[in-house]
Parts: sequence; structure tokens; C-alpha cells
Amino acid sequence: MKIALLPGDGIGPEVMDEARRVLDALRLPGLTLFEGDVGAAAYRRHGRPLPEETLKMARKVDAVLMGAVGDPSCDTLERHLRPEQAILGLRKELGLFANLRPASVFEGLEHLSPLKPNAARKLDMLIVRELTGDVYFGDKGRREAADGTHEGWDIMSYSETEVRRIAHTAFRAAKQSGQRLTSVDKANVLETSQLWRDTVIEVAKDYPDVALDHIYVDNAAMQLVRAPEQFGVVLTGNLFGDILSDLASACVGSIGLMASASLGERQTDYGTFGLYEPIHGSAPDIAGQDLANPLAMILSLAMLLRHSLGRTEEAEWVEGAVQRALAAGALGRDLGGNAGTREIGDAVLAQL
Ligand code: NAI
Ligand code: MG
Repeated sequence: MKIALLPGDGIGPEVMDEARRVLDALRLPGLTLFEGDVGAAAYRRHGRPLPEETLKMARKVDAVLMGAVGDPSCDTLERHLRPEQAILGLRKELGLFANLRPASVFEGLEHLSPLKPNAARKLDMLIVRELTGDVYFGDKGRREAADGTHEGWDIMSYSETEVRRIAHTAFRAAKQSGQRLTSVDKANVLETSQLWRDTVIEVAKDYPDVALDHIYVDNAAMQLVRAPEQFGVVLTGNLFGDILSDLASACVGSIGLMASASLGERQTDYGTFGLYEPIHGSAPDIAGQDLANPLAMILSLAMLLRHSLGRTEEAEWVEGAVQRALAAGALGRDLGGNAGTREIGDAVLAQL
């Protein structure tokens, strides 16, 4: 098993250190770790945010664990040299088309969620969002209309192949977690959505043990806030997923707890190749002060263990340790406590 660690900028290296300690504690047999540069750190050393060596390393491993990129000192650089280009480049070069974001509220942290406590307690979902198609990538333009005013257009389209592969990703996740799968569309008005729905129903035949339902996106947004217990794995296109995943994140209440995965098509010997990172950025305002909450990073590692290495048991150990560390009071500033980065890492290790 091979993992590439890309700490990146700001609090990236600090939270990566804690994830690495957790990984070491698991003592996975036959695991090799590599480390590479991305972001401003890479720009300083190699003159570009995503060096060829880093890309080469990412291509030969089973999974990539990334901190965050971004540094105020790079704000004046040309766009293609900015740290943020590293993520876009990695996504594109590695063919990562599926974005997975879990959203759940840990016991005792219901007060951080804007949901009613009763709804917050029941939030436990995984959003699977398609990343490479939809209206964001269709033909777009502007033209002058007959009356001399302007009009703009963006074409929404999905191919059956694109829907099929993201549907498989979502069904695999649902099968793994034993949750139901809800496919989100707007099939009452959009032809793209009708094709989406037909294809998902087709793919479902390969997963007879996964319960499937369909919901219109507007209703999904309402239900997510009103009664989130209806959702397990949620499968959506790029546009609807962009909006719903931010809505779900907001329901959790803290950025320091939000993990994510971006999966590709390549199957490794142990699972699906993917890139794992916290949702948060490099947080330059708190970098180097032992103030960053490393839990989003540690939970991203748990996702890596589950999806890319097929280590479900270890993933559950890590998630359980995080849960118990929180219950035991390892609360960072983002959660209203005053535990430092290292202290929170220590608490997780103690539970592990
Ligand atoms: P940010 O997520 O870095 O910070 C937003 C706020 O949340 C800040 O007040 C920060 O202190 C706090 N915060 C973030 N992570 C935290 C953690 N683990 N523990 C405690 N508090 C935490 O977003 P911001 O400030 O908009 O962006 C900073 C830089 O990060 C920019 O250069 C941006 O482009 C980059 N960025 C990179 C991302 C990535 O690498 N995937 C994602 C988002 C932003
Ligand atoms: Mg967004």
C-alpha cells in the first residue's frame, strides 16, 4: 500500500503531522509513505504550485492525503502560479470525478449546528457529487438578442457514461455503509435529469441490496434541513451537488470537522484511487500557532482507509477515536474550546 502525503501551506503541515501520527499508530503492514510539495511551498521550491515530481508520485500511489494550499504572499502571482491551481491540476490530471463529503454531527456538539437539536442528532449523510460534467462544463456564451439586449446561456448536459460511473461510486459507498441511496435530480423539468434518473435505475440492478429512491433537488434542500434522517448516501450532479454539499456542511456547524474525498475511476488492489483533504483552507490567520483543529484532516485519513485501502475496520477505529476524543473534551477553538492542535492529536491517539 502506498500513500502520498502533500502537507501544503499554512495549517496544512500542522494538521498533516497529527494525521501522520494516527496513521503510524495503526501500523498497517506493507505501507509505504511518500511526501511531496504542493501549493505555495512547492512554488517556493520548484517555481510552480504542482511540480511534475508531485504529479508523478500521485500517479503511482493508491491514495493521496492533502493538507491545504494557499498563501497570502502568492496573491499577486499570475493565476497559473497560484497555490490553488494545485488542486485543480490534481483533480484534472488524476481524473477525479467524484466528490464525497460526509456530514454528521458528533454527539454533544448539536449546539454548533444551526439545525434543531433533534434534527442535528440525526444528520448522518454522505454527499456524492459529480465533478467534471453538468452546466459548469457545457457550451456557454452571450449574444445580442433581436431587441438589442443581451442574453447568456450555459448548456447543461450529462452523458450516460458520466452518470453511470458516478452512480457506481455512490452505490459502492452505500453498499459499504449499509445506508440507503437517494438520487437527486429535477426530472420533472430537465431532460438531463430524466437521463440521469433512467441511468441510475439501470445501475441499481447491480446493487440489489441497496435501497434507492429519487427526490427533486428543491425538495431535497428542504428535507435536508427539516428531517435529515431521511438521507444516507446522496447522489447528485455537479450543480445541485455544489449547492447541497455547502448546505450540508453548514448544518454540521464547524469547518474543523469536515473531511472530503475526491475519487477517480482507477481501482487499486485495495479499493478506489482517491485524493483526501479537509474542506478547510490553509487558514493563514491561525497558522503556526497550534490553534488548528486537526480532526477534519484525521477524518479525511479515515475516508482514505475506507475507500482507497479497503481498511473499513481501521477507518471505524479512527472515527470512533475522534468521537470519543471530542466527548472527552478535546475541543479546539472552532468548537468553543481551547485545546491546541497537538493536544487534540494526543487525545485521538489516546483513544485509538
Ligand atoms: P480557510 O478555510 O482557510 O479559513 C476560514 C476560517 O476558518 C479562518 O478563520 C480559519 O482560521 C478557520 N479555520 C479553517 N480551518 C480550521 C481548522 N482546521 N481549525 C480551526 N479553524 C479553522 O478559508 P480562507 O480563509 O477563505 O482561505 C485561506 C486560504 O486557503 C486561501 O488561500 C484559500 O484560497 C485557501 N483554500 C484552500 C483550500 C484547499 O486547499 N482545498 C480550500 C479553501 C481555501
Ligand atoms: Mg461550493
